[in-house]
Amino acid sequence: MLPKLRHEFVLAPMVGVTDIAFRILCRRHGASLASIEMTAANAILHSEKVAKDILQFSDEDRPLTLQLMGTNAAEIVKAAKRYEEKIDILDINMGCPSKTVTRIGAGSALLTTPNKIKEIVKACTSSLSIPVTVKMRAGYDVGSINVVEIAKMCEENGIAAVGVHGRTKSQGYRGLADWGIIKEVKDNISIPVIGNGDVKRPEDAFKMLEKTGCDYVMIARAAMTDPTIFEKIIELRKEGRYDKITKKEKLGLVHEYIGLAQQYNVPFPRIKTNTHNLTAGIAGSKRFRLAINSMQGTKEVLAELEKLAKDI
Ligand SMILES: Cc1cc2nc3c(=O)[nH]c(=O)nc-3n(C[C@H](O)[C@H](O)[C@H](O)COP(=O)(O)O)c2cc1C
Repeated sequence: MLPKLRHEFVLAPMVGVTDIAFRILCRRHGASLASIEMTAANAILHSEKVAKDILQFSDEDRPLTLQLMGTNAAEIVKAAKRYEEKIDILDINMGCPSKTVTRIGAGSALLTTPNKIKEIVKACTSSLSIPVTVKMRAGYDVGSINVVEIAKMCEENGIAAVGVHGRTKSQGYRGLADWGIIKEVKDNISIPVIGNGDVKRPEDAFKMLEKTGCDYVMIARAAMTDPTIFEKIIELRKEGRYDKITKKEKLGLVHEYIGLAQQYNVPFPRIKTNTHNLTAGIAGSKRFRLAINSMQGTKEVLAELEKLAKDI
């Protein structure tokens, strides 16, 4: 069973984005669950750098999901076991469309090998004491939409919840996410379904709940540029309305993120990525985002942010 969450709105895993500082930022602004970015099980077992840079933990960052990528069931179990005390959910990635991942048969390529999925799922659910979830796409391509069958098989083999991004692997991020397929999964299994794809504004979260019947709503890109989407969703539920974020508040978020990133020694390239994303939408910030590419340290970023604040 999943741990009890404050509400249904959760932060999606995002490579290069959901570092510990960003996760805590999203939690402070309402996210009820966050996930470490997709991490290769074999990298956890063999790379100290991965452990140091990506696998960071804090009491303020719970409940926490670790998302693993791989094809070797024993390796996935071994990697998850190493962190079993520090995480609350193990999630298995069955959605990543990137070539480096699919060419080894992992991520969304797993959708083409249901027996492999069964082997991984069985190994994880029988060996770990924490709940195990899967995050998948609708199918590999439009001719092989099989998420419903795979979700059923996952349920039969002890999975605690199923995440569905309503696009196929071939779609990448093009077109619209098919919320109909999320509903179909929900209608066919009894364990919780986590709907994902194209929740861009607070209103969309409630539309997804209503149209799909899903139990949780997972948000990625909208949170990447504005983590306050979670508190806006809660505000909308309570008050029937929400205030749009102001430029000043957006800049405040950037500072809050940088402060957390410094506290947790987040590597500078990651700080740059998130600072870049978080300034999106601030008038006059284009120049800042161009400049940040060549910046060498946080001091420089803070000095440029000060200039940007003056323009507001
Ligand atoms: C920069 C970026 C990195 C991502 N990394 C991951 C990842 O590590 N694991 C994963 O399951 N999905 C990953 N995704 C996919 C998202 O979790 C999500 O499924 C997808 O963006 C659709 O949700 P959205 O419409 O709310 O963005 C990533 C997406 C983006 C934009």
